[in-house]
Amino acid sequence: MSDKSFSLINHKSGEQLGLETSDAVLGPSVVDITKLYSEQGVFTYDPGFGATACCSSTITYIDGEQGVLMYRGYPIEQLAEKSSYTEVCYLLMYGELPSKQELETFDQSIRNHTMLNESFLRFFNGFDHDAHPMAMVSGIVACMSAFYHDTTDIQESAHRDVFAHRIIAKIPTIAAAAYKHSLKQPFVYPQNQLGYCSNLLHMFFSVPTESYEVDPIAAEALDLLFILHADHEQNCSTSTVRLAGSSGTNPYSAISAGISALWGPAHGGANEAVINMLEEVGDPKNISKYVAKAKDREDPFRLMGFGHRVYKNHDPRATIIREMCHRVLEKLGQEKDTPLFELALELEQIALKDSYFIEKNLYPNVDFYSGIIYQALGVPKSMFTVMFAIARTVGWVAQWREMVRDPESRIGRPRQRYIGPGQRDYLPIADR
Ligand code: SDX
Repeated sequence: MSDKSFSLINHKSGEQLGLETSDAVLGPSVVDITKLYSEQGVFTYDPGFGATACCSSTITYIDGEQGVLMYRGYPIEQLAEKSSYTEVCYLLMYGELPSKQELETFDQSIRNHTMLNESFLRFFNGFDHDAHPMAMVSGIVACMSAFYHDTTDIQESAHRDVFAHRIIAKIPTIAAAAYKHSLKQPFVYPQNQLGYCSNLLHMFFSVPTESYEVDPIAAEALDLLFILHADHEQNCSTSTVRLAGSSGTNPYSAISAGISALWGPAHGGANEAVINMLEEVGDPKNISKYVAKAKDREDPFRLMGFGHRVYKNHDPRATIIREMCHRVLEKLGQEKDTPLFELALELEQIALKDSYFIEKNLYPNVDFYSGIIYQALGVPKSMFTVMFAIARTVGWVAQWREMVRDPESRIGRPRQRYIGPGQRDYLPIADR
């Protein structure tokens, strides 16, 4: 219950409807409208769900005005500095930071599930080599539901755990197989003695004909990027996983739906779109032309990597990634020949001083700089959103698990405001 109370007055009938409110531990309270339709015959209207809480959650908290992001109460800045992606996966899944023994056991379980069923690898041969990796990854993840019949009872916690460990462990191997297929190179099997990000780099960049040493700087950079991308409350792809999962469908299918939603350029596809945009801008002298296009309501062009539904202040992840760019590029000895990074820094400075972006609270988001680092690590543009999907898989899994166990959870079924034709009679074709 909340100390706030709201009521609705039906001005036609004069009826007053008291609405129960519940406080949140952090952030806005919620007004319970579940009885609104049955008692007043009206729906609320909120296209894009900008002001609608779809669930109660204990996983991630965002304060868009203050630029706050916390996983299970731990500020992202502290996790970025002190934790590891595997430890963050445990935290998101189980709600607490693991003991040394718990982390070792979890880490070993993930390492033991990295390999793919050989039939999966044959699936990739069904794709042309120019298939977009996101299409391959979402397809292959959906196919996992055809193989793993031992984890279909989603009410069984053991099944949910096996599913979770399996998808978190295998998503890098699936991503690497998609990448190798696009290169027409042989698949590289995971090496379980390697850590999560080192294994990914090994599967991406090693070839059977040469020995390959993982660059620890690259692995460390990837680990940090994955921590920053791991979860983000009820974003588009997470809400898709929850909505698909609310029907009780196979969890691999729900995750595949989330991958498809993430692919959009307004969402996780923005990291690829940012590099395309920077390459199109090309030179700092063109920045003002593109900023003008972004401000022109008649022009569909938007400054990719800018703006956010929730952050109306800075995106704390963008701040961390921007600082990381300098360090990673310097350590990799690339700080000189990265004109795109210089261009991104200049574009950000110009945009942040422009009244349009200030008035609309448009700041760089997580996607604005991440592509610069992926590129510096040798990851091609077409794989940027796949990297986002790898990192976000644990967030989708944690949110799906919470939904399955939530006693308030029921099949998601939004309503609509109908503005189509009134009833009319069928007209035979001769009379049309
Ligand atoms: C992610 O939700 C999440 O948490 C997502 C994410 C996660 O971790 O899961 O954080 C990851 O998806 C980050 C966002 C990546 N997308 C992009 O960078 C694409 C470019 N940004 C936009 O398309 C846009 O800002 C959105 C989609 C991110 C947010 O859109 P909203 O909240 O629906 O805002 P809006 O479209 O209503 O914009 C408000 C105004 C509009 O102008 P008016 O109609 O009021 O005149 O701001 C303008 C928009 O035209 N605007 C932009 C702009 N973004 C918004 N103008 C120019 N360039 C932009 N990038």
